[in-house]
Amino acid sequence: MADVTEVLGLAVDEVTDVLTAAALAPSVHNTQPWRFRLAPDRIELHADPARRLPATDPEDRELRLSCGAALFNLRLALRDHGIRPLVTLMPGAETPGALATVRRGGNRDLDDETRQLIKAIPARRTNRKPFRDAPVPVGHRHALVRAAERERSWLHVVTDRDERARLQRLVAKAQRIQAGAPEVRAELTDWTGPRTGDGIPPTSAGVRPAPQDEWAMRDFQAAERPPGKDYESDPLIVVLSSFYSGPLAELQAGQALQRVLLTATTLGLSASFMSQAIEVRPVREELRRTLGGNLEPQTVLRIGFGSPVPASPRRTVRELLLEPIRTA
Ligand SMILES: Cc1cc2nc3c(=O)[nH]c(=O)nc-3n(C[C@H](O)[C@H](O)[C@H](O)COP(=O)(O)O)c2cc1C
Repeated sequence: MADVTEVLGLAVDEVTDVLTAAALAPSVHNTQPWRFRLAPDRIELHADPARRLPATDPEDRELRLSCGAALFNLRLALRDHGIRPLVTLMPGAETPGALATVRRGGNRDLDDETRQLIKAIPARRTNRKPFRDAPVPVGHRHALVRAAERERSWLHVVTDRDERARLQRLVAKAQRIQAGAPEVRAELTDWTGPRTGDGIPPTSAGVRPAPQDEWAMRDFQAAERPPGKDYESDPLIVVLSSFYSGPLAELQAGQALQRVLLTATTLGLSASFMSQAIEVRPVREELRRTLGGNLEPQTVLRIGFGSPVPASPRRTVRELLLEPIRTA
């Protein structure tokens, strides 16, 4: 464990605030697979290889999506301190192993939209519970699509009845494949239940899956569902995609994911994920074809008006720090 130091002209307390905000990002199974290295002129974002999910996410795709989401929060938190962040993705030899470096690109005042997104960081949470049976207004949908575009990604709203049915079948098929894979099940079990500072606690587990569910949700061992408390009949379903594949696109899509989720939060919307169809490679290929073959699907979200849910745990900032780079 390292100590927080002054970086980018920020005091220790301010750096702690910025990293706390970054770590409030969503991550697959709440693994929080990110680490930060502090140098006077930059914050480096690194993956934490000890938090990989080799069976569920063998290519580290979701790990990088999660890190991209943390990077988006980091960018916003720096803006909150008047700093315009200068981000380099996959910086290469200059900072070995880093997924991104963030430097000070001058000062910049906050605009209203950014202020709203910053406020949404601690309010956003994955909501696995049934939503209200109220449609998401068209204006809200457009705002979500724009949010993805702003981060060079694509949000496809699945409205066509046949396409929805195909996607439902793909999610269910992937769910069955994962249920039959002992290593995937073991990772889910490892990260579910009471842990300290990470994983999915019972309070975030949502409701227990039931045969009548149209969309197959991951089973985080929630308490039995009370009768009559089924899922909403017509959630907004979206697929977030990147325009190309590979680590850089995944980091970009992670930032887009977080802009979409925070924008949803500012609009009073909740979201949960259905990643199974993307995690299982052959199913992902089918989904890619369903989407026309030109986009790289990165995640599937269910969005609607939910009731409040508690926050999930996070590690302390000190646990996230790599040894600092000392200058002579
Ligand atoms: C790339 C990615 C994939 C995820 N996939 C799923 C999923 O398939 N099912 C699910 O219930 N939650 C999924 N999540 C949500 C995480 O479990 C959640 O972000 C984490 O537990 C932290 O909780 P919070 O989002 O409420 O802060 C995913 C999150 C990310 C970033």
